[in-house]
Amino acid sequence: MSFDDIIDRRNTHSSKWDMMEAFTGVSDPDAISMWVADMDFRAGDFLQDAVKGLLDKANYGYFAGDGPAREAAAWWMKTRHGWDVDSALMTCTAGLGNGIALSLQAFTKPEDEIIIFTPVYHEFTNKVLNAGRRLKQSPLVIEDGVYRMDLETLEATMTGREKMVLFCSPHNPAGKVWSIEEMRALAAFCERHDLLLVSDEIHHDLVFSGHSHTPFAVAVPDVKDRLIMMTSASKTFNTAGTRLGCVTILNDDLRTQYRKALKAIDLSPNLLGMEMTAAAYSERGADWVDALVAYIEGNRDIFEEGIGAIPGLHAMPMQSTYLAWVDFSGTGMDMKEATHRVKIDALIAPSMGVEFGTGGEAFMRFNIGTPRARVEEAVSRLTDAFSDLQ
Ligand SMILES: Cc1ncc(COP(=O)(O)O)c(C=O)c1O
Repeated sequence: MSFDDIIDRRNTHSSKWDMMEAFTGVSDPDAISMWVADMDFRAGDFLQDAVKGLLDKANYGYFAGDGPAREAAAWWMKTRHGWDVDSALMTCTAGLGNGIALSLQAFTKPEDEIIIFTPVYHEFTNKVLNAGRRLKQSPLVIEDGVYRMDLETLEATMTGREKMVLFCSPHNPAGKVWSIEEMRALAAFCERHDLLLVSDEIHHDLVFSGHSHTPFAVAVPDVKDRLIMMTSASKTFNTAGTRLGCVTILNDDLRTQYRKALKAIDLSPNLLGMEMTAAAYSERGADWVDALVAYIEGNRDIFEEGIGAIPGLHAMPMQSTYLAWVDFSGTGMDMKEATHRVKIDALIAPSMGVEFGTGGEAFMRFNIGTPRARVEEAVSRLTDAFSDLQ
């Protein structure tokens, strides 16, 4: 199998392809779907073997024991990320979306304010608002072409109502990999203001050469009593449809509180997610990820170079993820016009930057986790759609 293989995902219950028209308004059969954050590649053989193993057992009754998935996750964290963590401290959730929503339920009250660094994964906002909590946006600033947190400005606005920070590491969108110094500064900020820190590290494996991701628990061990670590195999191995997230809470009281909240809603991960996670976090999985990251890095180079050649468009340099972040402000046109050109002229369905919060208004997010031919085609169509700017 090759990452170049094009598989048709239409009519497979794929949100990215089958919901494209409903959510983005782009309907043409030749359209390229670049919005939802999953990848268009065939699953690795180790995942297919895990599914075959399930088929052979020919029984889908109640299962017991998320131990193998947690142990595989702990092994992966140690071997790939230098984080020596006891699998007994991990709690499996029905995906990290569920894990984040549950953190809000378990640790905050309706009047509490939740800090997010925008533009950021739009579901942070949705989860906070759906939980009836208050949102506090701290806009990232662009320095030397990449994002940095502006904790000084945030500090000046603190009221004492803030309870939690939702941190995205590496950052979605744009793929910024946070440095240990930046994490130390954030941890100190959380200490000063007595905030819980949810570190959503779902993109931890998709990091390009020259950069390295450090789990928050490793970067700042002292923050452990206020830290909620979120990891998952789902972005790395494209298993999001099997719904399994891993929430590691080092503090005993917080972990008990979290598990109680999970029990209260009686929502458990499923057998398939468990099997997939255990199969993914393996030597075979590691080889597959190494090849995947090299491939996406190649896509990134083509995308960034192509976008960089279109006057007025700028792709923020990606250090990780497959979620490219393109600034349209240099075109001088309003976003209605830019959107028309992308969706109607180029027949591409991206995510709109405005959904990612303050600072995202002039951007669109393009998912390049797709066979290279599609990335090349997208660049070529965008070049044509904005050709009058040449
Ligand atoms: C930062 C971040 N967290 C969480 C999720 C969703 O995770 P899950 O599919 O496990 O619910 C995404 C998906 O795009 C994401 O980008």
